[in-house]
Amino acid sequence: MQLKDKVAIITGGGRGIGRAIATAYAAEGAAVVIAARSTAQLDEVATTIAAQGGESLAVPTDLRVRAEVAHLVQKTVAQFGKVDILVNNAGINPRGMFLESTDEQWEQAWQVNVMGVVHCCRAVLPIMKQQGSGNIINVGSGMGQVGHANLSIYCASKAALHGLTQAIAEEVWRDGIIANVLIPGPVKTELSKAAWENAETFRAQSDPWKEPAQVVASALFLAAQPPASGMTGQILSIMRRNSP
Ligand SMILES: NC(=O)c1ccc[n+]([C@@H]2O[C@H](COP(=O)([O-])OP(=O)(O)OC[C@H]3O[C@@H](n4cnc5c(N)ncnc54)[C@H](OP(=O)(O)O)[C@@H]3O)[C@@H](O)[C@H]2O)c1
Repeated sequence: MQLKDKVAIITGGGRGIGRAIATAYAAEGAAVVIAARSTAQLDEVATTIAAQGGESLAVPTDLRVRAEVAHLVQKTVAQFGKVDILVNNAGINPRGMFLESTDEQWEQAWQVNVMGVVHCCRAVLPIMKQQGSGNIINVGSGMGQVGHANLSIYCASKAALHGLTQAIAEEVWRDGIIANVLIPGPVKTELSKAAWENAETFRAQSDPWKEPAQVVASALFLAAQPPASGMTGQILSIMRRNSP
């Protein structure tokens, strides 16, 4: 068991990639705290983890709201006493041409993809510093490395997330905390449905679409990294090319 006695918070743990990571971490012995807005999805994941003999806590959370994130972290510490791993996985990807994008779309995506991560890191880092150890995994995107038409908001927010991760990594490595980005490549989830259901886009993909379970090995690799490994501020991309 690679994550025995570890406590992991996984945002967006109710479906898609976050669900796959949460169930995998629980199977590896971690106590898993899952956060998202859809209570029914969180409950389903918690039930699945329990059925597999794992331990979890579902905390309905809107990551855009700082007070809700504070509550998420308080509940985690109250129940499990610490936070070893934070996976900032929740994200949204509004599509549309740049000139047609609205301030509201920019604001929404920024609040989830960037400020949601800011809120989580601000709430968790003081605890990790006190522990003298911690591991942050931010789910980025190839879109944050190379811009794509029709996805300007998403590309900009993921580029910001990559920069944020590396800046945080530089500030906390002396405290025994590592922070890295995981780029999953194209994965068949609700977020990407518009793309993989569209045959035209599918053909244009340079990477094949994965199932969420195919992201698990790299998410486990990062979670199992001891801070002493010195692996921090890195971008681990599991896609062949820099397409989506
Ligand atoms: N799928 C891909 O091809 C792909 C490729 C590269 C990167 N990624 C990244 O992978 C991550 C996971 O995406 P996915 O594909 O698994 O998408 P998904 O199936 O749509 O899951 C997204 C998760 O984020 C949660 N979420 C969204 N807004 C939230 C909010 N305001 N507060 C709390 N939780 C919120 C959702 O729950 P609620 O809606 O219930 O809140 C859901 O659990 C994202 O960061 C995405 O950018 C995905």
